[in-house]
Amino acid sequence: MSVDARKSALVTAPLVGEHVRALREVLDIDQAESPSGLTQDELLARIGRFDGVLTLLSHRVDAELLSRAPRLRVVANHAVGVDNIDLAACLARGVIVTNTPGVLTEATADLAFGLLADAARRITEGDRHVREHGFPRWSASLLLGRPLHGATLGIVGFGRIGRALAARARGFGMRILYFSRTRAPVEVEAELVATHVELDALLAKSDLVSLHAPLTDATRGMLDRSRLRAMKRGAILVNTARGALVDEHALAECLHDGHLGGAGLDVYAEEPRIDPLLLSAPRVVLAPHIGSADRPTRDAMARLACEGLRAVLEGREPAHRVI
Ligand code: DGY
Repeated sequence: MSVDARKSALVTAPLVGEHVRALREVLDIDQAESPSGLTQDELLARIGRFDGVLTLLSHRVDAELLSRAPRLRVVANHAVGVDNIDLAACLARGVIVTNTPGVLTEATADLAFGLLADAARRITEGDRHVREHGFPRWSASLLLGRPLHGATLGIVGFGRIGRALAARARGFGMRILYFSRTRAPVEVEAELVATHVELDALLAKSDLVSLHAPLTDATRGMLDRSRLRAMKRGAILVNTARGALVDEHALAECLHDGHLGGAGLDVYAEEPRIDPLLLSAPRVVLAPHIGSADRPTRDAMARLACEGLRAVLEGREPAHRVI
């Protein structure tokens, strides 16, 4: 390919692995250096001259960005979720969108299970207690939590990650209920010993609830105030999917007044902002969106995102095309 024919792409953050180095052999690459990537304003200011962009889930790809990017042909999102992208606007402009499905399933299920265990058995609270008060004497009633073994786990969204969580929960002898718009094949239900129920029944019966639905117009706010109040008293909620699935303020109130027994949150409605009422709530474990944050997973996500960018700019069909 002649130098003039080389396409250009903006990589909006440093990534794990050597994948961007390989991209530089075939594309003109500009890469941001700040560990958390370009701010939205920086992205808008720089996007104009590029044929492709590799975005993080914290970047909004909307009509405004597209209007500033006349050459743009591909958005390669370094995430499986694409709720940060206005897909209709991209489609109208003929911009291809790719994502990174599959490779973060196990890592996210690991974290979801970790948050369930932490919130149920009050591990982070115990850590804080030891640091603040030391460990002067053993007590028969200190930091009593909820059992995991034998509990009923409700999984909302039963795609790859929801099923991977179910596989982990089986090892803990949990009873598994799940809700999803489309019922899983019977052999999957049989293998995971998982029972399909409607959302309201799941919330009424589960001791622990974990969210694994994508954020769409249909799922936004699905756990609203009345659904949170319909959960079992003392139940625990874990969210490693997207913050806007839940009314966070109502969740914080349920934690403050003791209706819910705990929560484990990795995602927030308006990241990186966290509702102050959640920050002051008891029994909530807060993580900074690290569901996919193990090295091999982030390496694989970077590889898939770079491959998507490169494929489109070389005129090939990308392996993980969203639109
Ligand atoms: C995703 O890929 O959508 C995850 O939230 C990243 O951790």
